[in-house]
Amino acid sequence: MSGSREFVRLDGGAVTLVFALETGGAADCVYLGARLPDGEDLAALAAATARGRHESQPDVPPVPGLLPERKAGWSGTPALELRRSGIPVETDLRLAFWRLKRGSLELIWRDPALALEVEQCWGIGGGDIVCVNSAVSHAADAGLILERTSSLALPVPARFTEVIGFSGRWAGEMHETRRAVAPDGFARRSAIGKPGFADGNWLILEDPATGEVLGAHLAWSGDHDTRIECDTQGLGDGRAILQMSAAAADGETAFGSPTQHWPPPAILAIAPDRSALAQAFHAHARTDVLPERATWGPRKVHLNSWEALGFNLSEEALTRLAEDAASLGIERFVLDDGWFGGRRDDRTSLGDWFVSPQVFPNGLGPLIDRVHQLGMDFGLWVEPEMVSPDSDLYRQHTDWCLHVDGATERPTMRGQLALDLSLAEVREYLTERLDALLRENAIAYLKWDHNRDLFPSRPGQTEGFYALLDALRAAHPKVEIESCSSGGGRIDFGVLSRCHRVWPSDNNDAIERLRIIPAWSQFLPLEVLGSHVGPSPNPITGRRLAMDFRAKVAMFGHMGVEADPARMTDKERATLAAHIALYKQWRGVLHSGALWRLAHPDPNVTGMMVTHMGRALALVAQTAFSPVFDAAPVRLAGLEPDARYRVTLPEPWPPRARHYLAAPDQWREGLVLSGTALMTQGLALPLTHPETAWLVVLERLPQ
Ligand code: DGJ
Repeated sequence: MSGSREFVRLDGGAVTLVFALETGGAADCVYLGARLPDGEDLAALAAATARGRHESQPDVPPVPGLLPERKAGWSGTPALELRRSGIPVETDLRLAFWRLKRGSLELIWRDPALALEVEQCWGIGGGDIVCVNSAVSHAADAGLILERTSSLALPVPARFTEVIGFSGRWAGEMHETRRAVAPDGFARRSAIGKPGFADGNWLILEDPATGEVLGAHLAWSGDHDTRIECDTQGLGDGRAILQMSAAAADGETAFGSPTQHWPPPAILAIAPDRSALAQAFHAHARTDVLPERATWGPRKVHLNSWEALGFNLSEEALTRLAEDAASLGIERFVLDDGWFGGRRDDRTSLGDWFVSPQVFPNGLGPLIDRVHQLGMDFGLWVEPEMVSPDSDLYRQHTDWCLHVDGATERPTMRGQLALDLSLAEVREYLTERLDALLRENAIAYLKWDHNRDLFPSRPGQTEGFYALLDALRAAHPKVEIESCSSGGGRIDFGVLSRCHRVWPSDNNDAIERLRIIPAWSQFLPLEVLGSHVGPSPNPITGRRLAMDFRAKVAMFGHMGVEADPARMTDKERATLAAHIALYKQWRGVLHSGALWRLAHPDPNVTGMMVTHMGRALALVAQTAFSPVFDAAPVRLAGLEPDARYRVTLPEPWPPRARHYLAAPDQWREGLVLSGTALMTQGLALPLTHPETAWLVVLERLPQ
């Protein structure tokens, strides 16, 4: 029996959601946007966009709302997909209960015939981010299988007519794609046991008329299924529905006994533009996601051995590398792949997590001691979820890897198989090994890699990964962890709630990074985005870039070096050391402030800027040869219009472009300009030549 509709609102600082709730019927979101004035007539608001029935529509037009079902004639994907004996089972879920509690809306739907109950909780947290948490419970029914549950089903406000997705590949993460929402909608799913490089778990919807954006994310490190379905035939209420869920293989739950299942949380944010959207996601990451973010010290400058030495490891070579690193101002020395078992190349020994006596006859101790003497701390690479067929672990436990029962072949990728983390004995082995390494060696940081897709995939794998990480973090709470998956193959708020940084891409080419970092920083704050100065020529793209350009670009992130200083010229080392010193001076701002995406008429100019407590640092970089001699001034953002700022260009300056500065001394001493002048007219920087980057410093003057 359905009752009358009631309207409730949830308010954040600048955002309001209005829900239409019909006990015994459906629950719908009828407004999502800028904060409404107090006292808004919510029934009138819903009436203003309600439509009458039209031809060729069910007699009672269905409302897919927050829990789409097929029962009343809506033709899209239902929020819950159930099967019995392989046959789809349709639900008849009706809103049974709702209440507003501590600023959140709790909702319960029931389907008595299936003994099924669905709960959702919509809350607004840090950064005005909307979090949706849900649970599905069921009394025992041995035959019923829950294949997939949407973490989020959102009727998309009609003004968001374009969808921006992110797709990519290894070393080429996060390419923006843009398309119209109607008529074809959007569909992206992963089936490799992780979000992967075609990141459909991060999404932006845009109103192209105003630039207003809606960001959505599924906080889950396994497979996902993201879709926007348009109601072009008018079988529902005409609105597109966005659904995000863990994909079937990950979410499947058998209801053999009374069971509760928790789909991963989904998050949403709405903002007037993309800078504001980034700031909302960053505020959420900083306050609600990253583990104990408030207690983090400054993000130390890394040197990672991978691009410097690869598998050519020896205590002597590493000690020499550590000494060179320290002389540049590096603060953390990270020993990458190749230190364990018989791992002298990438075909062998994953799983044998014992320090190699061949490479380190005296263990890791002497190297770590030297690293400490040099004033750095020590980090270590691991890839715990994998096993090489050529390893002692595999020889002892051939049944510990993911495989198809009875299959004669176990296909590898990068010469490796994946362990089945749903097995408690596998997690116990890994916990014991990693725990012993951390107890026996002074390791401050783990780079946790994951270089194979999971095929076949298996329910319980992602939960097993989380359980393993959680157990280690509980035993070693001070150890920082980086999540890497051949670069950015597994980046989401599920893993980030257990980590301190991510590796956005194996591609350190600064020109590529000028696309990759702005794309990731649309959602993630700079302090978690590993950003390294790579070698020149770059091992992946082959491109040669000047140190000045590479170093400036790497400052916008968690800075590090992934190259051998011994192969740099004295001048390059000096330039790098100067930028490391600048980074140390500015990381407090870069890692706490508000990020602004700077617009410029030349598409080859990328600008980013961070403001924090009256100080700001901007990076402006030109990648191509400009069609004009004098590039348009760069307009800054995020300043107080009436405040006055001293603007300087910190040295070192780009070697070629410096000659085009009209009055170099003026830029050393600083020009004083108002926020309005800087944001309206901007600064004319020499940006004619390809591969030129400038840093701009702004300091607010006392009134
Ligand atoms: C893939 C990572 O993304 C690289 O940075 C490096 O750690 C290699 N694995 C080591 O095998």
